[in-house]
Amino acid sequence: MQGRVTGLPKRSSNNQKTRMDKFRITGRQPLSGEIPVSGSKNSSLPAIAACLLTEEPVILHRVPQVRDIATMLKLLEYNGASVTRRLDGAVRIEAARITKPEAPYDIVKTMRASSLVLGPLAARTGVARVSVPGGCSIGARPINLHINGLEHLGATVHQEHGYIEASAPNGLRGNTVHFERITVTGTEDLMMAAALAKGTTVLENAAREPEVVDLAELLIKMGAHISGAGSSRIQIEGVERLHGAEHTIIPDRIEAGTLLIAGVMTNSDIVVTGCVPEHFASLLSKMRQAGARVEESATAVETRPVTRLRSVDMTTEEHPGFATDLQAQFMALMTGAAGISFITENIFENRFMHVPELARMGANIRIEGRQAIVAGPSELTGAQVMCSDLRASASLVLGALVARGESILDRVYHMDRGYEKIEEKLAQAGARIERIG
Ligand code: EPU
Repeated sequence: MQGRVTGLPKRSSNNQKTRMDKFRITGRQPLSGEIPVSGSKNSSLPAIAACLLTEEPVILHRVPQVRDIATMLKLLEYNGASVTRRLDGAVRIEAARITKPEAPYDIVKTMRASSLVLGPLAARTGVARVSVPGGCSIGARPINLHINGLEHLGATVHQEHGYIEASAPNGLRGNTVHFERITVTGTEDLMMAAALAKGTTVLENAAREPEVVDLAELLIKMGAHISGAGSSRIQIEGVERLHGAEHTIIPDRIEAGTLLIAGVMTNSDIVVTGCVPEHFASLLSKMRQAGARVEESATAVETRPVTRLRSVDMTTEEHPGFATDLQAQFMALMTGAAGISFITENIFENRFMHVPELARMGANIRIEGRQAIVAGPSELTGAQVMCSDLRASASLVLGALVARGESILDRVYHMDRGYEKIEEKLAQAGARIERIG
């Protein structure tokens, strides 16, 4: 196969990856073959937090080996759970006793999703202490909606010394919670808390993401009574206790989408396997509008070469709209499309950090408030660029795959937060990508 790198990157285990790592990518290599999708990071995170709700062991399959997951597992160990990664790759978590119902600053500051333990800890132990997440590169990302929700379930919440303390010594009580804004982890946090509350909880204006549905399925296996997950109204009848369960995490729809965009951008014939195309239908529809050839089966999507892409506009929305987590990657795709594309980011206020870096590679993009205006097609050329957050990193990898010459991507630890063995997967498909120290 043309341009194939010989051998895989030397360091393949996430444990050995360091903050200094870079990617060296030589662009314009065609990709081919099948690329498998890993388990969803954003589904695994709440699933791991849900293990705090029972003293019995929970076994989770297809949990990806990425840095955010390692952080979440570390947090559960801090809470007192025993965590083991089995030889078959499954993660076994047993929270027989919660010794410290707390998410300390050092952990929360590296991963905001650690606030997902707030609801489960409050429900299980009657008390939870979680560091207030600070700002984040993509936006302010407050957790006020999680807190309001818990207060509706009867918890007393106050903030002191940089920590949120929730207490419900007599247990949580079911209630109606109307989210004033759709929040994914807020919906998940409250669903977990309500699973052990007394009585009925109704979550209105709930998030409809596939990760919310996956969490509901796990909780139901653990004995929870939940209906409506996947719609904007979720009903939970609290139960006194939950038990152990075994569950397979859904495939990562954002990784699948990123790989598909790589196939289309490099004009390649690749098959992204082990995914659920329905979970990223809005991306597939936008790609087709742009002239891409993508053919889906129940669990795979194939890309086929096309001579020309045309620009299309895109606006990020909550599911089933276009995912904000694919906005940066879609923008990379639009740099190669003919015409003007208006890309509007509606979910986070600062999610255009990839724009100046793509511009260093030759993209023509202007930002006006929440909108990025991409004029294409641009011929990208390899450059030294800096990753600023997880999905911005992915868009730079995509840019580098089509750029003429060599690119060096600095700070790929952002990429390691959420993409499992991405350089190995791309190299196996024919990309010239290597990790350098
Ligand atoms: N928001 C509030 N108050 C809250 C919660 C959210 O104002 O209490 C705002 C946020 O600031 C944001 C909007 O509501 O403007 C939506 O945020 P949401 O709560 O839905 O985001 P999240 O739950 O913190 C999850 C994913 C993100 C993904 C968003 C949106 C996980 C662990 N994280 O975050 O994933 O971008 O939903 O789909 O599920 C990523 O994987 O790169 C990533 C950032």
